[in-house]
Amino acid sequence: MVGLQWGDEGKGKVVDLLTADHDVIVRYNGGANAGHTVVIGEEKYALHLLPSGILSGGKICVIGNGVVVDPEMLLSEIEGIRSRGIEINAGNLLISDRAHVVMPYHKEHDAALERVLSSAIDDSGPGLSIGTTKRGIGPAYADKVHRSLAIRMGELADADHLRSRLEVICAIRTRELDALGVEAPPLDPHELAERYSEYGRLLENHITDTVYALHDFRNNGRSILFEGANACLLDIDHGTFPYVTSSNCSTLGIPAGTGLPAPCADEVVGIMKAYTTRVGAGPFPTEDTGPIGERIRERGNEYGTTTGRPRRCGWLDLVAVRYSAMICGATSIACMLLDVLSGFDELKICSSYRLPDGTVTDRFIPDARRLLNAEPIWETVPGWAEEIDTSQNRSDLPPEALAYLDRIQEILGLPIHLVSVGPERTQTLAGSPCG
Ligand code: IMP
Repeated sequence: MVGLQWGDEGKGKVVDLLTADHDVIVRYNGGANAGHTVVIGEEKYALHLLPSGILSGGKICVIGNGVVVDPEMLLSEIEGIRSRGIEINAGNLLISDRAHVVMPYHKEHDAALERVLSSAIDDSGPGLSIGTTKRGIGPAYADKVHRSLAIRMGELADADHLRSRLEVICAIRTRELDALGVEAPPLDPHELAERYSEYGRLLENHITDTVYALHDFRNNGRSILFEGANACLLDIDHGTFPYVTSSNCSTLGIPAGTGLPAPCADEVVGIMKAYTTRVGAGPFPTEDTGPIGERIRERGNEYGTTTGRPRRCGWLDLVAVRYSAMICGATSIACMLLDVLSGFDELKICSSYRLPDGTVTDRFIPDARRLLNAEPIWETVPGWAEEIDTSQNRSDLPPEALAYLDRIQEILGLPIHLVSVGPERTQTLAGSPCG
């Protein structure tokens, strides 16, 4: 399952529903920048690094090699989940020894660079800061690609090895942070080595070669659910670069982030909201900065799970979703938060863009500078007045809501297999909206 917009599509709920039909749940990309919210009865869980399947008993959860792991955050997430009576042990949580470690200096670098860039002058309009989650994601992936200063989970528990690596790393990082204007004492390799090797020891039983483990699961007929984090339009290669995250969060990231060769999945559930949101900077053609966007934000509680930031909101951009569905090979759609759209007289759908030279295109423009100039061409459809959050079946939905879903299917050329009308597991309508 994979998000088809700019994140926050409601993936936590879908992965929780799909978990029931799978044995193994795998995260393959991203890190603690992700925030998957799962509501079970009265309990609300916000997960950042742990695969959401951890909330269901009897499942094996895997943090694949493509993830960047902040061990401090992971341990506190594990503690938080355990304190609510959920078992986490070496058998149900496997962490790749090849996953890269997010260190404190990555987070400092992330925040400092954003600070410097937000005051830099840019001639292209949107500004240079990305609006990151400041979880150190970019600097950690940069270290991975840069190689010599990177640390992987498999190295963490070896204190002597870690200390000798950190002596070099800290000397270089201190100078870099200083150049970015961070006023702090020099990084202390001894303190960091002690603290992080202790984290390594605490996680040691979980750290393993997940590539062989996943191949074994597959060869033994276990069903595997790949839990995409962030979303396709934030993909480092295929998203709205440079306003993206630093991993392949489309399904194209699965083979590299797990070690399972493509094609990995028999089915790809593409998850979209019934409207569009975005956090952080970057172009967003259907954004509404007026009362419509405000109403969507309030009704949809559109505030970040990870950072609490208000999300930018607007009507549904199906040019973007159709592109993401193509990149990800979606075989069906889950349409989330349909209930948020109750009470609008009319709704708008964008299915093509007008470009500055007057041409019309139904192709997405994944280059941020060019996308900025794309003007949405709207289709206006009737809205519905009634609340739909207590609907039990598709047939309970007002005809205008069914027509809205129908139009989405038509434009995407894909069936909507799941419609969500609220955060609870029970507020889910399965089956075709066309009956
Ligand atoms: P980073 O991943 O923290 O480097 O942030 C890069 C961009 O991706 C920023 O605009 C973030 O707001 C956005 N982003 C990263 N992860 C998520 C997510 O899970 N949901 C929504 N936006 C995200």
